[in-house]
Parts: sequence; structure tokens; C-alpha cells
Amino acid sequence: MSTQQHTLSIIKPDATRRNLTGKINSKFESADLRIIAQKRVQLSKLQAEKFYEVHKDRPFFDELCTFMASAPIVVQVLAGENAILKNREIMGATDPAEALSGTIRAEFANSIGENSVHGSDSAETATQEIAYFFSGLELVG
Ligand code: CMP
Repeated sequence: MSTQQHTLSIIKPDATRRNLTGKINSKFESADLRIIAQKRVQLSKLQAEKFYEVHKDRPFFDELCTFMASAPIVVQVLAGENAILKNREIMGATDPAEALSGTIRAEFANSIGENSVHGSDSAETATQEIAYFFSGLELVG
């Protein structure tokens, strides 16, 4: 069954600092994910806290939000067949020590916190996360 989906992707500060946007985008495009919206932004700490609100009770919440506001990020919408799961496979496990070889996190991530990319984990989350950064007019398939 064909399931075309949209998912939110973020190229995180550790990756933008190291000028890895193009290399990461190439992984998406090689796997037939289309980048249908993309912009570079710098979040305030408050904006990072709102985005990651679901994690607010986790011990790493403050460190995570400080990191996400520490440098520009690239937010993007990826479209394609089973895009949500496909993107998670391309990213690899949250902890780079557990990520399969060839994945973005295995190749580029520094640590579980500075893990280069974020991707939505479900269709419901994808809808909310895309709406946090983009208006419908900005999604250009
Ligand atoms: P992400 O997919 O952006 O979603 C939540 C983030 O929290 C996750 O990637 C990690 O970067 C971060 N995270 C998860 N576990 C830890 C941890 N134990 N220490 C620091 N950061 C973490």
C-alpha cells in the first residue's frame, strides 16, 4: 500500500556548526525523500522549550533546550513513501553508539544529546511539529 507522508526534520546545532547540511540532505534525497520546505532559524531557549515540551520532566530537558538554542538549526519538511519511518531509519538510533552503520547519527553524531538530527516519531507528532515551524503555504511539493 502506498502511504505518502510528511515528516518534520531538524538539522541540529552540532551539525550546522560543522557545515554538514548538504551531506545530511544528500542522505535524505538518496533515499527518495523530497525536501519540500526548508529554512535556517535560530531558536530562543523558550522556543526550544515549547518545541520539546513533551520532554519537560526528563532530566536532560534543560541541557537539550540550551543546546538547541546554541546555534542555527535547519528545519525542513520531508515528503515521501512512509516518510516518517523512513526518516527514522536514515537517522539511526537516538544514541549514536547504537546507530547502524551508514545512518546519519552513526556517521555524524557526537553524543546522545548532540545527535545531529531530529525526526518526528508518529503521524500525529509530524502534523504538530510541522505546524510549529511552517504554514501550509510554505510546503511546496
Ligand atoms: P530528538 O529526536 O531530538 O528528541 C529528543 C532529544 O533528547 C533526543 O533527540 C536527544 O538528542 C535528546 N536526548 C535523549 N536522551 C538524552 C540523554 N540521556 N541525554 C541528553 N539528551 C538526550
